[in-house]
Amino acid sequence: MEKTAKLIVDGKTYELPIVESTEGNNAIDISSLSKTTGLITLDPGYGNTGSCSSSITYLDGEEGILRYRGIPIEQLAEHSSFVETAYLLIHGDLPMNDEFNSFSIMLNDHSLVHEDMRHFFERYPKGAHPMGILASMVNALRAFYPETSEEDEIEKIFARLLSKLRTMAAMSYRISMGLPVVYPSCYLSYCANFLNMMFDSSVRPYNIDDDMVHALNVFWILHADHEQNCSTSAVRMVGSARVNLYAAISTGISALWGPLHGGANQAVIEMLQEIHDAGGDPAPFIARAKDKNDPFLLMGFGHRVYKNYDPRGRIMKEMADKVLDKIERHDPLLDVAKRLEEAALKDPYLIDNRLYPNVDFYSGIVLSALEIPINMFAVMFAIGRLPGWISQWKEGREDPVKRLHRPRQVYVGPKERNYVPLNERS
Ligand code: CMC
Repeated sequence: MEKTAKLIVDGKTYELPIVESTEGNNAIDISSLSKTTGLITLDPGYGNTGSCSSSITYLDGEEGILRYRGIPIEQLAEHSSFVETAYLLIHGDLPMNDEFNSFSIMLNDHSLVHEDMRHFFERYPKGAHPMGILASMVNALRAFYPETSEEDEIEKIFARLLSKLRTMAAMSYRISMGLPVVYPSCYLSYCANFLNMMFDSSVRPYNIDDDMVHALNVFWILHADHEQNCSTSAVRMVGSARVNLYAAISTGISALWGPLHGGANQAVIEMLQEIHDAGGDPAPFIARAKDKNDPFLLMGFGHRVYKNYDPRGRIMKEMADKVLDKIERHDPLLDVAKRLEEAALKDPYLIDNRLYPNVDFYSGIVLSALEIPINMFAVMFAIGRLPGWISQWKEGREDPVKRLHRPRQVYVGPKERNYVPLNERS
């Protein structure tokens, strides 16, 4: 029997259906609410609102669980590759051998970027942030690759985005450094190719290290999807207007740029550097984070959904130790991070507010060990999140309830008043 919830307004009872999930929160279906009661719901920041039903990612913030298509993130990080995980997210299942091969061939075939796009890159002002460049270049892809029918060419568009975003990211870095562009190679895997495009040089060939390639695979797997987060919701929202996929992904990149979202990994490194430069004691910074008159936040701490340790953070922390061991480099910021984490985990305010390190707390250390420049950190997050955006956009498109996303509001502005001509205003 269908479960229902009862809502009583002014003595009148309304029965609302309950939608059951396979795991996690069930939901009260309020889609008929305004029609039957004249009321809407108010949920600033959407902390209690399910914007869709989804079968892509399951996360339980209380228990610290994250699964893509049912598979725990820990297993994917240990056994899968980023390309295989992208396939899983987009197509719903792990690929068979022939499926994986044709997916890889598609990615290889679409890895080059139209030569004319280089002029765009070259004309951006020096010092422009790579996230801004990437968002506009992804939007521009539509002009360079106009498809005849999105429906028939959709797999090609997915491959184009997955492959070219990586090429464009490396390209923007090379051009910003005044270095010649390195083209993708059909002999290299997705992640090895990226590192090679970033760092190879005719005078100092880049030595591809399997452990570093593995670290990058894990980094991108950990970022590949995270259900209805800010940038993904932006992609689904914009996608509901039936814009082309490039435009929707460009919106996702713009949303991800913010320091409360994908820009946090850069902000964490800047904060750790500030603590280090101030002598390395995290206590005054924790005190600032607790001071309600100070806008300072502990970057890399807290999460809208995880109220327990972020499972991605745990894997990232192990990875940070591994890559630093491998390159035999001692990063003083890792020491600061560990000291800050230790102090934070004992602090009553942070414990009460359930503020634990999130994925971004250690990801900057991993990226620094891979020699990724700090202004590219959010771009690295964007490449990782791309399969998630694509699969969520696809799910939105295939949803039988294809409604334009259009939230409502509680209006609290002035009631009707008359226009006053300029010379009569007091
Ligand atoms: N430092 C200090 N205080 C904090 C922090 C923090 N990092 N995060 C939350 N708080 C406070 C917050 O101000 C609130 O205080 P009060 O109740 O007095 O107003 C209380 O803790 C509870 O916060 P919340 O409701 O759990 O936070 P939220 O869900 O609105 O925000 C967040 C989540 C991630 C935006 C926030 O924790 C934050 O700004 N963290 C720092 C930025 C960061 O690391 N972002 C990366 C998130 S993980 C990557 C991703 O998925 O995008």
